[in-house]
Amino acid sequence: MMNLGSLKIGNNIVLAPMAGISNLSFRVIAREKGCSLAFTEMISANGLVRQNLKSSDYMLSSSEDKPLGVQIFGNDPVIMAEAAQIVAERGADLIDINMGCPVKKVVKNGAGAALLKDPGLVSQILAAVRKATQKPLTVKIRSGWNVQNINAVQIARIAEEQGVDAVIVHARTAVQGFSGSADWTVIEKVKNSVGIKVIGNGDVKSGGDAWRMVETTGCDGVMIGRGSLGNPWIFTDVLTYQSTKSTHVGPTLHERKEMILRHFNRESGFGDGSNSVKRFRKHLLWYTRGLRGGSAFRAKVTAISEKKLLLQEIENFFEQAELPYQQIRS
Ligand SMILES: Cc1cc2nc3c(=O)[nH]c(=O)nc-3n(C[C@H](O)[C@H](O)[C@H](O)COP(=O)(O)O)c2cc1C
Repeated sequence: MMNLGSLKIGNNIVLAPMAGISNLSFRVIAREKGCSLAFTEMISANGLVRQNLKSSDYMLSSSEDKPLGVQIFGNDPVIMAEAAQIVAERGADLIDINMGCPVKKVVKNGAGAALLKDPGLVSQILAAVRKATQKPLTVKIRSGWNVQNINAVQIARIAEEQGVDAVIVHARTAVQGFSGSADWTVIEKVKNSVGIKVIGNGDVKSGGDAWRMVETTGCDGVMIGRGSLGNPWIFTDVLTYQSTKSTHVGPTLHERKEMILRHFNRESGFGDGSNSVKRFRKHLLWYTRGLRGGSAFRAKVTAISEKKLLLQEIENFFEQAELPYQQIRS
C-alpha cells in the first residue's frame, strides 16, 4: 500500500509515463500484471488549454485504467494551473508535473527538465497548480540539469513546501539523456531530505532491481519505464520478488503469444483503430526480442500495415518458435 495525498494505491509499483507508449492499452496490460498506478504520457498544458484534440486523445481512459496519473508539461504557472483543472475534471486521479523531459523541443520552451534550472519558477508553478486542484499532485524530476548542477534535493524541498504529495526522481541528469546509468544515491539523498513520498526511477529492469532500489535508497515506491517494454511481466516479478526474494519465472511462449494477441486486440479497439498495426509494431519488436526467429519476424513485421496479415505473421512466428530444435534443422 502507498498513500499519495488522498489516494490509496494497492502497491508501490508504478508504470512510468512514456510518450508514444504508455497509452490506455499498455497501461491496462501493465495493471493486469501487477502495477497499481500508471501515467499517461506527457500532455502539453498549452494544448489542453487551447483544446487541441491530440492533447485530449492522450487522456483516453477506461474504468479498468484506475487510478490514473496524468502528466502535464509547460512552463507558465497560469496555464499549468488551468491545465491541471482540465485534467482533474476529465478524470485524472493524480496530476504529475513534468520536470524531467530533456527533449530539445520541450526544453527550448523552458518546460520539462529546463525548469530544474529555474527553482523560482518551479515554486510558482507548483504553488499555482496546488491552488487550482485538490487532487494528489506529484512532480517528476531528474537529478539536475547536468553533473555540475545536481539539485534534486533543492527542487524536492520546494515541492514539499508547495504542498506536493510526492516527488518522482529519475536519477540521471537532463544532459545525460538516457546514457550512462542512473545514480540511485540521488534518490537516497532526496528521501533523506524531505518528508513527502519519494518514488525512485531509473534502470529498474527486474524484481530484484526494484527491491534493491527500495533497500539502498529508502524510497517509498518504484517507477518502471523501459524495463516494461515487451515485458509487462516485470510487475509480477517485482511483486513475486517482494514476497519470495526470488525471480518470477518468465512467461512461456504460449503466454507470450496470448499477451501479444490480447495487447493487440486492446490496441485495435483503442483510439484510432485503423492505426493500431502501426502503433503496435514497436511492441511486437520488444515482445519478440531474443526469441528464435525473432529477427526475421521483425524484418517482416516492419513492412506490414494490415491487421489480418499481422495476425497471420504472429501465428507463423509462434509456430516456428515452438518447434523443437531437431525439427528446425531437418
Ligand atoms: C520512449 C520514452 C518516452 C518517455 N516519455 C516520457 C514522458 O512523456 N514523460 C516523462 O516524464 N518521462 C518520459 N520518459 C522517461 C521515463 O518516464 C523514465 O523516467 C525513464 O525512462 C527512466 O526510467 P527507466 O530506466 O525505468 O526506463 C520516457 C522514456 C522513454 C524511453
